[in-house]
Amino acid sequence: MEPGALPPHHLLGAFEHVNVCAPMVRYSKLPFRALVAQYNTHITTTPMILAAEFSRHPQARDAEFSTNQAERGTFRLPSQHTNRDVVFRGSLVCQLAASEAGPLADAAELVSPFVDGIDLNCGCPQPWAYAEHIGSYLLRQPETVRDMVRTVKDRLGHAYCVSVKIRIDADLRRTDTLVRNALHAGASLITIHGRTMHESSASDPVHLDAVKFAVDCANACGLQTARGTSPHDAWVWAEDGGSGGRAPCIVNGDIWTNDDAVEWRRYTGARGAMSARGLLVNPALFAGEPRTPPEAITRFVDHAMSWGLPTSFLHRHLAYMLEDRMPSRAESIYFNSLASPASILDWLSDAGYV
Ligand SMILES: Cc1cc2nc3c(=O)[nH]c(=O)nc-3n(C[C@H](O)[C@H](O)[C@H](O)COP(=O)(O)O)c2cc1C
Repeated sequence: MEPGALPPHHLLGAFEHVNVCAPMVRYSKLPFRALVAQYNTHITTTPMILAAEFSRHPQARDAEFSTNQAERGTFRLPSQHTNRDVVFRGSLVCQLAASEAGPLADAAELVSPFVDGIDLNCGCPQPWAYAEHIGSYLLRQPETVRDMVRTVKDRLGHAYCVSVKIRIDADLRRTDTLVRNALHAGASLITIHGRTMHESSASDPVHLDAVKFAVDCANACGLQTARGTSPHDAWVWAEDGGSGGRAPCIVNGDIWTNDDAVEWRRYTGARGAMSARGLLVNPALFAGEPRTPPEAITRFVDHAMSWGLPTSFLHRHLAYMLEDRMPSRAESIYFNSLASPASILDWLSDAGYV
């Protein structure tokens, strides 16, 4: 029997310890998503895709998005409601960036048959994104976010999973307003990166108290309206199309080990834990591995060769994964200097990875 497919918000509602791969421009593409899905990552996310370009240009669609039947993982977890183990298929989310509801809904409609959820980027801090009124610009535009969520929900149907990924605001009242607006418009889940738009992942620690505050705001919104009626069985949830209930949250920021994921979820009350840089250096992080297992490197190269990945991206990924495995700094510098696919494969072969 085919394992059941649950959209992300139902998956988060039905199971504890849900693990999520973050959207990462250039990095969270098909071969990497398929890899982390083999190591206990239940939900994966595409890199941010510009909605207007995606809906207007077929070339942008081909360049920005690809998927296949094999990329989602199959998992077994105890259901919260029945206490029995349930086998289910992982979820794939497409993250879109837009400044207006119309282009967002157009792109969402095009990609929705191939993914299990649409996520709106409300966190990209780059100056060009802010100038285009996308990403973190939306953090202080709660009414625009509300209209965008509502428009996508109207276009795709209420059961379709539509989420927003936010950063916290130094003025937490603004976070509260943003979360409430998104949820009242029908957002199915909220992902909270515990840094402000002015803070950097490299130098500023994540603010788990602020994430907890945002989770509490989401919980305080109460039940959404279109909840399914059979909370005893996850499969009934999936089939009855309800998207109501307490909207689940996902905590994001500085998750480097599976213990971090467990602790971050416990502390904040979020149902899911999302990692970006942690998964880049160790794609098996959520499987409890202390560093990238050698077979993960072999698998990744296989996925990249079978499904395509530009050499520069392959190289960068491998440099991250091999960070803790390089015998010396000189070898690391040598590996980073490799330029052709053949030289990279030769190095991997000599090192016993392929
Ligand atoms: C290489 C890279 C690319 C990223 N691209 C995106 C993106 O496309 N969309 C997004 O919402 N966040 C993006 N982020 C931010 C991450 O999703 C995440 O919120 C942030 O890195 C904090 O998580 P971490 O501490 O686990 O790295 C990116 C981060 C990295 C490192």
